[in-house]
Amino acid sequence: MKLVLGADHGGFDLKENIKEYLKEQGIEFTDYGTLTGERCDYPDIAKKVAEAVADGTFDRGILVCGTGIGIGIAANKVHGIRAALCHDCFSAEYCRRHNDANILTMGGRVIGPGLAREIVRIFLSTGFDGGRHAVRVAKIAEMDK
Ligand code: RB5
Repeated sequence: MKLVLGADHGGFDLKENIKEYLKEQGIEFTDYGTLTGERCDYPDIAKKVAEAVADGTFDRGILVCGTGIGIGIAANKVHGIRAALCHDCFSAEYCRRHNDANILTMGGRVIGPGLAREIVRIFLSTGFDGGRHAVRVAKIAEMDK
């Protein structure tokens, strides 16, 4: 699976922690920044990551800002993106099973790294159930054409 990460300054520390986790697990990724933790605008990062997932350069993305909200709102503006804000394991499982979410968003000021790592693990390892859920996901795609 080709994976891309991104964060603004509010999500930088958590993104760096998730990168360590991915390395420990032997999971490859690309980091679209911010690479310094300096103040930046989350829509810029969201756009870069979301467009790269939407055009097939990557299969999944993980975006982190202070709350996970702004970066997710921005990512969902890109056609074909289903970004899901998850701060619990149940949501991480079902955003994949029912919504075929292709981007996970989290808030670096909301949850700690232990829970975030578990959410990432579930997000990356859970498949889409398809069936009736595929019909619903297709209806979402019709909305943002
Ligand atoms: C940045 O201060 C903060 O607004 C941003 O990281 C995010 O929480 C927005 O939704």
